[in-house]
Amino acid sequence: MNSVETFNSKIKRVLISEDEIKAAVKEAGRKISESYDGRPILLVSILNGAFVFMADLCREVTVPCEVAFMCAKSYYKGTESSGIINITMDLEQDISGYHVIIVEDIIDTGRTLNDVVKLLKARNPLSLRVITLLDKPSRRLVEFEPDMALFEIEDRFVIGYGLDCGEMYRNLPYIAEYDESIE
Ligand code: IMP
Ligand code: MG
Repeated sequence: MNSVETFNSKIKRVLISEDEIKAAVKEAGRKISESYDGRPILLVSILNGAFVFMADLCREVTVPCEVAFMCAKSYYKGTESSGIINITMDLEQDISGYHVIIVEDIIDTGRTLNDVVKLLKARNPLSLRVITLLDKPSRRLVEFEPDMALFEIEDRFVIGYGLDCGEMYRNLPYIAEYDESIE
């Protein structure tokens, strides 16, 4: 197999189509616009995975808002969170004057967002909510509930629409199941 064939052979099946994502993102943008109208909104995307979701979601928000990006990695001692998160790229603005909405690609064990939420809450935003494109509730290791999840999925490794496997597949316009079998 050449590299394109190998790439394609790992895309097991489409789980969520481009049209389904588009409709759900539109609805999420409508809800945000409705409930935050007239307030200072800051959409905060966690890189890299959420960059595609953020780009589409912010264009469905029809009221004034600002966008910002941060890159966070959590460190763990065995299976326990050390409580230390390494911010490899932090926000530039003081968030105390904003209603912050964290925009995430997927919640798996819940550790990353649990830590990011603690960190951002300590900076006293006017309010803080979490919207995630995908949620895998069966995988949770720490208790964490997003305020909005567009799609709940089973315990499967997924790729596309920003989500990667080894930094590849982020550019797929749909969410697919990754074929983990080794041939
Ligand atoms: P958590 O701290 O375990 O909730 O980690 C969430 C992060 O793990 C996400 O932001 C993704 O970067 C990554 N992740 C979890 N599940 C998947 C998946 O099915 N496909 C791709 N990345 C995933
Ligand atoms: Mg992520």
